[in-house]
Amino acid sequence: MSQQHLDSLRAIVGETHVLCGTDALPFERDYRGVYFGKALGVVRPANTLEVSSVMAYCHTNNLPVVPQGGNTSLLGGSVPDGMGTSIVLSLARLNRVRALDTVNATMTVDAGVTLNQARATAEQAGVLFPLRIGSEGSCQIGGNLSTNAGGTAVVRYGNMRDLVLGLEVVLPDGRIWNGLRGLRKDNAGYDLKHLFIGTEGTLGVITAAVLKLFPVARSVSCAFLGLQTPEDALAVFSMLRRHLGTDVTAFELISSDAMTLVLSHLTNRSSPLADTHPWYVLVETSSNADQTDAEAQLLAALSDAMDLGHVTDAAMAANARQAAEFWLIREEISDAQTKARGSVRCDISVPLSSIPEFIRETTIKVRSIAPEARMIVYGHIGDGNVHFNPLRPNHTSADTFVATHGNHIASVIDHAASALDGSISAEHGIGVAKRDALGSVRSREELEISWAIKRALDPFNLLNPGKVLPTLSK
Ligand code: LAC
Ligand code: ZN
Repeated sequence: MSQQHLDSLRAIVGETHVLCGTDALPFERDYRGVYFGKALGVVRPANTLEVSSVMAYCHTNNLPVVPQGGNTSLLGGSVPDGMGTSIVLSLARLNRVRALDTVNATMTVDAGVTLNQARATAEQAGVLFPLRIGSEGSCQIGGNLSTNAGGTAVVRYGNMRDLVLGLEVVLPDGRIWNGLRGLRKDNAGYDLKHLFIGTEGTLGVITAAVLKLFPVARSVSCAFLGLQTPEDALAVFSMLRRHLGTDVTAFELISSDAMTLVLSHLTNRSSPLADTHPWYVLVETSSNADQTDAEAQLLAALSDAMDLGHVTDAAMAANARQAAEFWLIREEISDAQTKARGSVRCDISVPLSSIPEFIRETTIKVRSIAPEARMIVYGHIGDGNVHFNPLRPNHTSADTFVATHGNHIASVIDHAASALDGSISAEHGIGVAKRDALGSVRSREELEISWAIKRALDPFNLLNPGKVLPTLSK
C-alpha cells in the first residue's frame, strides 16, 4: 500500500522528487539532531499546482503531511513523528522570486526562497527586506511565515507577521487560496492570512507571499557595550530611543557566560572590549544621516549613558567589517550552545519593564536547582525577548544534565515568564516541544477556539498532526 502511495506521488512530482531511505534522513531529523522521526517518503513538488495535487491526494488517502521549509525549527515543528506514515512535504523547490515592485515596495516570492535569497534580491533592487535571523542562509520564507519569525531587527521593523501583505496557501484538501494582494490598506472582510502565519503549517501550506520592502538606510552604526546589570541595559535602551527614535534597529543582550561560551566556540575571535563585564549589549542604528553624523549621534547618546553610569565600556565598529565581527559574536551563540550540548533552551518574553526582575528571579531559581549551571542568557531585550538557556557545568554530561534538570528548569522558566504576564514562546513557536506547556498557559476558551479553527480547515487532522495544539481534556 505504501509503495502504491509513493508511486502515485511520483506521478505528480516526478520520479526523482520522492525520496525514501537514506535520502530521506536529512528531512526526518532537525538540524541540531535533537528531534528524529520517520517519514513514509519526502515529496518535493516544484510549484503550487503540484503542492495542491499532493495535498488532494493525501486528503483522499488519509495520509498525514508535515510541511517543511529550511528545517531550522528549534522545537521539532518540521520533523515527522516516528510512525513512518507521514509525508514530509518539502517546499525547497518552490524557490522563485515571482515579482518585485519598487514603487509598491513589495516582492512576491515562493515559500522555498531562502531568507538570504530574499534579502539579496531586495538589495540588488536597491531596497531592503529587513527580517534578520541567524539561520538566514538555510531558513525559508514559508517557514519564517509559519513560525512568525522574529530575530534581531524586530525593534525597528516588527516580526514576520508585520512584514507580509498577502499569501497564497494550499488548504489541507488541495484547494488553493490566492490571497497574494499587495495592499497596505484592505479591510474587505476577514484578514485570512493571519490564520496561516505563526500556526506552523497546521492549517494550510503557505506556497507564496507578498513581502513588504523598505528603503535602505544611508548609514548603519554599531556598538558593543559592557554593562553591570539588565537594569542598565534597559536604561540605555530607553535613552537611545529618546535620542535616536526609530533609528534603533537592534538591541541585543549577552550575559558574561554566553560571551565566554561563544568566544571559546569562535576560537580565532576576541571580545571587542578589553575587560570582561557581567553583561554586554550589541546595538545597531540605521539612519538617513551620513555615516559620520550618525556615528556622532550614537556616540553622544552612549556618552550620556556612560555619564549616568549605565555603560561601563563601549566600542564603536570602525567599519562594516568590524560590525560584521560584532554580529558574528551575537549570532554564533546559538550554534555554540548546540555544539556544547546539554542546555535547556527557552524563548520567553515579558513586558520590557519586567525583564530585570525576570532575569534576577529566574537566575536565583535555576541556581537553586543546578547551582553550577552556566547562565547562557541572550537575545532581543529591546523586544522584551530573552533566550534564557541554562547550560550544563563542564564536568556534567549533557545527557545527565538534561535528564536530571531539563523539565524542571524549563518549567521554572516558563512559570516565571507567565507570572510576569509573559509568553513561553516569543519567537520560536511551539512545535512539538512546547505543545503540552501551551496547554497549561492558555485558557480553555483559547484552546477551544484554536481547535475549532483547526477542525474547520483540517477536519481529519492530517496537517502537521501533533504540533502546536495540546490535547484538550474532556
Ligand atoms: C537567536 C535565536 C536562537 O536569537 O533565536 O540566536
Ligand atoms: Zn532569537
